[in-house]
Amino acid sequence: MSSRNIWTHKGTFLLAAVGSAVGLGNLWRFPYLTGENGGGAFILVYAMTIAIVGIPILIAETLIGRASRKSPIMGMKYLTETHGVHKAWRSIGWMGASAAFIILSFYSVIAGWALHYAGLMFSGSLVGADATAISASFDALLASPALLVLYHTIFIAVSGLIVGMGIHKGIESGLRFMMPALFLILLVVLVYALMVGDAGAALSFLFTFNLQDLSLEGWLQAMGQSFFTLSLGMGAIMAYGAYMSSEASLTRTAISIALVDTVIALMAGVAIFALVFGSGLEAGQGPGLMFVTLPIAFAELPGGAFLGGVFFLLVIGAALTSAISLVEPVAAWLVERFGFSRPKAVALMVTCCWALGLVTAFSFNIWAEGTFTQRWFNRSPFDVLEFITNILMPVGGLLIALFAGWALSRDEVLREMATHAGWFRVWQFLVRFVAPTGVAFVFLRTIPQIEGNLLPAVLALLMIGAFSAGRVFLVRS
Ligand code: PHE
Repeated sequence: MSSRNIWTHKGTFLLAAVGSAVGLGNLWRFPYLTGENGGGAFILVYAMTIAIVGIPILIAETLIGRASRKSPIMGMKYLTETHGVHKAWRSIGWMGASAAFIILSFYSVIAGWALHYAGLMFSGSLVGADATAISASFDALLASPALLVLYHTIFIAVSGLIVGMGIHKGIESGLRFMMPALFLILLVVLVYALMVGDAGAALSFLFTFNLQDLSLEGWLQAMGQSFFTLSLGMGAIMAYGAYMSSEASLTRTAISIALVDTVIALMAGVAIFALVFGSGLEAGQGPGLMFVTLPIAFAELPGGAFLGGVFFLLVIGAALTSAISLVEPVAAWLVERFGFSRPKAVALMVTCCWALGLVTAFSFNIWAEGTFTQRWFNRSPFDVLEFITNILMPVGGLLIALFAGWALSRDEVLREMATHAGWFRVWQFLVRFVAPTGVAFVFLRTIPQIEGNLLPAVLALLMIGAFSAGRVFLVRS
């Protein structure tokens, strides 16, 4: 592949990967999951998982992308052929691309809510409104298919435009402008929250580590969140990794991505909880934390309308830089596989994804009841889509870890990682054994109630499973 398909600067991959990683996962999901799961204990488990499962898989995924220099689907085809492993391993590419496609379809709808709230804030329509009115206005938004579709359309169209302009003119230029701006806005929001909110309460909520507070379900959610927030297991990082300069250090970059992503999630958490506690509200509000609880806080704070608007701009921008990383893997595949021009590939991808997004938009209103998904699975169509990605993500991560750990040769990995043999061995142990075990464990959360005293046995079995899967199916003959 020509050098036109390499990022312009050595550091651009870092910028792009951080752009992908930082998104609704940091600003919306992380705070509400932390709130629901008792604060510090959740954060402790989350940070541990990032370190021992997240970073190794992040390295593995980037490695696979850079070693193939192709879109995830074509890249996995190439690697399985050149490494003499069964072609079933190509499913890594297919699953990743499908997950990216499905996630983008609902990510765009939810990001659209932030569009609505930025408007509400800046226009001052929530100033002085009481809690009941604000939560009623959220319900009214969800009840309107027209509004949801409108915002979804705007959001996904803008994402498509950026990617359609190409990896240099579109993605790189967009990121170079958006990322610093977003960081600045986050700083402004944080300083404001520390001034008008209850910083002490927020800090003690986030940093009091009491593991007894954490349910088994909380452990699992923390692991799932560490995947989602690092954009792992769905080809986004692989696609960006394919454009990564061969000089940039994989290990250092991966650690930086994870650090920046975590610091930003914590900054958002401190800001949001300082505002929420400062207004005497509750932390455990679930998904409504950002769209109901926070607007209630902004409504009564000095300068809250403006700062609230600025905050939702931050959410929109962060979601946008993540959304473009979801368009890229599929669009790049259409270009490589069918020789489409980039604009055409992106238009096709985004249009199909937009159509699937309607399923999510309608799930909150006209399809909230009575569709076949409720009848068969007892979930709304949106919940079914989310459920599917919750399976695809960990399975993708598991396979990526095994593939990178066993199928790639030692020399090839050492060359890519450009690190000491000692670090390489640590990484190899983590991707061969620890990460697959951890991921399989996340995956098993769909099987309710594994008795507490069975846990060690289950973990041991999973380790043995990872070992056999790697040895038997992946070691090159
Ligand atoms: N990491 C993004 C977030 O935290 C979500 C995402 C997942 C983006 C997967 C790309 C791929 O919001």
